[in-house]
Amino acid sequence: MAALIVVPGDKSVSHRALIFAALAAGVSRIDGILDSADVRSTAGVLRALGVDVPPIGPTMHVTGVGLGGLRRSAQPLDCGNSGTTTRLMAGVLAGHPFTSEFVGDASLSRRPMRRVARPLEAMGAHVSLAADGTLPMRVDGGPLHTIRWQSETASAQVKSAILLAGLVAGVEVTVAEPTPSRDHTERFLRALGAELRSDGGITLVPPSSLRPFTLDVPGDPSSAAFFAALAAIGDGRAVELPNVLASATRDGFFRVLARMGAHVEGDAPTATDAGELVTTYRVSPGPLSAVIVSADDVPGMVDEIPLLACVAACADGETRVTGAAELRVKESDRIATTVANLRAVGADAEELPDGLIVRGTPDRALQGRIVTHGDHRIAMAFAVLGARRGNAIEVDDPECVAVSYPGFWADLRRATT
Ligand code: S3P
Repeated sequence: MAALIVVPGDKSVSHRALIFAALAAGVSRIDGILDSADVRSTAGVLRALGVDVPPIGPTMHVTGVGLGGLRRSAQPLDCGNSGTTTRLMAGVLAGHPFTSEFVGDASLSRRPMRRVARPLEAMGAHVSLAADGTLPMRVDGGPLHTIRWQSETASAQVKSAILLAGLVAGVEVTVAEPTPSRDHTERFLRALGAELRSDGGITLVPPSSLRPFTLDVPGDPSSAAFFAALAAIGDGRAVELPNVLASATRDGFFRVLARMGAHVEGDAPTATDAGELVTTYRVSPGPLSAVIVSADDVPGMVDEIPLLACVAACADGETRVTGAAELRVKESDRIATTVANLRAVGADAEELPDGLIVRGTPDRALQGRIVTHGDHRIAMAFAVLGARRGNAIEVDDPECVAVSYPGFWADLRRATT
């Protein structure tokens, strides 16, 4: 019988649900939000800015302060490990007429922030960063002007920062990016009554207020991916994953897993209140072969590349990922971390400047200890590889999964016993 795993709420949608509820005019109800360290960071930042956000729970009511209604925080805003909190809130606060300071943990403090500072400055905010373009970041917000921004990278965080700045400041903004990144912010904005146009980019015509909403947060495909991978590399047991967000900017891993030969089925997707699609996935093993992943595939599975590399170690042939240089500036340098850890357990992998190569060794037992560098997705990807029969992988920092999936280890036990 298939293992049934109900993954927790989507992290990207959970951050946005809190932010949009805080900016709406009235009380919003959010069900099934992800309770994880990253989402708690967003909740904490909003509280520091005067929003009455209750403790994260299965049903939350948030009373919005309206567009432009946040209050200055006397303390620096602690974003913990969360790039999404930092970059989205930088956009929101660029449109507020006061100074905000952003700080974070060691990993977040190494991540690039010029990518949000530049467009926000082009709109008229003042943003200062450490000399190497990292946190701490100070945003002096105020009235902003309209821009048309060509983003160098496909980044939903950068795109969202600009859209949120335009929303709060009440000015039209256009963002274009090389390949479409996840579009949850756009779907939210449309569902809440804003006008968006696609014309060689995304243009937001800001509404004068945002209506409050009721939302059931769909399951996180980036969390579901671990169990899909487990089934794909396993020795027979299928997995069923109900209520998983399946919008086209997030289902890339499932499509690539099918290309590799796993049996991946999804029900016809249904629409949710915030304009997202959800499905039930069923995954079972098939003879896995290598796959080529290039720049166009990457945004739809950007957080799943380390996991893909672990699956590739169990597939026949040479898997090659390119166009993924962004991985170097995630919670860890995920190209270096993934390749070093694959080698540490006896797999055959090498780094490329913008990706990696894995030569599959499906009959080899992979064993050893991996170093996560505190990166939640590295911990979970290698835990899945370690759960394959014959493998034995120790994860140095199992607790780091709390950033996105606190119940991961319990769900992994359930899926493997
Ligand atoms: C996210 C966007 C992605 C992703 C991150 C969440 C978001 O980052 O890696 O986990 O919620 O907007 P980039 O926008 O930097 O690619």
